[in-house]
Amino acid sequence: MVWAVLVAAGRGERLGGDRPKAFVRLGELPLLAEPLRRLDESEWIDSVVVVAPPEWEEPAILLAEEVGASKVTACVTGGATRTDSVRAGVAEVPEEAAVILVHDAARPLLPPEVVPRLLDALAAGFDGAVPALPLRDTVKLVADGAVVETPARDELVTVQTPQAFVAPVFRAALEQAGTSRLQATDCASLVEAAGGRVAVVEGDERLLKVTTPADLERVASWL
Ligand code: CTP
Ligand code: MG
Repeated sequence: MVWAVLVAAGRGERLGGDRPKAFVRLGELPLLAEPLRRLDESEWIDSVVVVAPPEWEEPAILLAEEVGASKVTACVTGGATRTDSVRAGVAEVPEEAAVILVHDAARPLLPPEVVPRLLDALAAGFDGAVPALPLRDTVKLVADGAVVETPARDELVTVQTPQAFVAPVFRAALEQAGTSRLQATDCASLVEAAGGRVAVVEGDERLLKVTTPADLERVASWL
């Protein structure tokens, strides 16, 4: 059983606007409608847990109904950080789930072929899998306004969501991160910190994360 946790509880401060990012308009509907529909349509996913901003749980459930996302089995309130929101969502996933897939609502355009790539990596024995893209720019490690090091670009990737994990491994990593108060910007780094092996699979440009109004326009143009 594959359970998806869709984290949509962020405030969207960099986007601005009068409502959380998941509820800004994208095409005809609130942004959240798109990832809800796409997760629901994935033949690889059995159930979806939505993590909504405080006060927005009801609108999230109504939206899931409106788009016919019948795999949505729970909608819970998110926390102060992304990791807190992931934890709240994972708490709703039953013990018998084999795989937990975490996806950002802020990446609305999930192409159907990404999920099986991740699941293949887990079937091959990895604890987790992340979609990644090569870097366009050179990256530098800096401190106090000066370059410390320039890592080889061909050894670096940028990673996206959805990220998939063997469920018990992910639960243990979340617990360990809680104990050590680890703050992470993605879920895979929690699994890495717990000693898990994470595979890198091919990502997709369409998984662009909506951060700014320009990103929103770009994603809207791909609908
Ligand atoms: N997220 C969440 N709970 C939080 C913070 C973020 O569920 N406390 C989710 C967001 O809803 C988003 C994803 O994590 O789908 C990635 O976060 P980000 O793009 O940073 O979204 P926001 O935090 O909403 O945006 P900003 O940082 O500009 O406020
Ligand atoms: Mg944020």
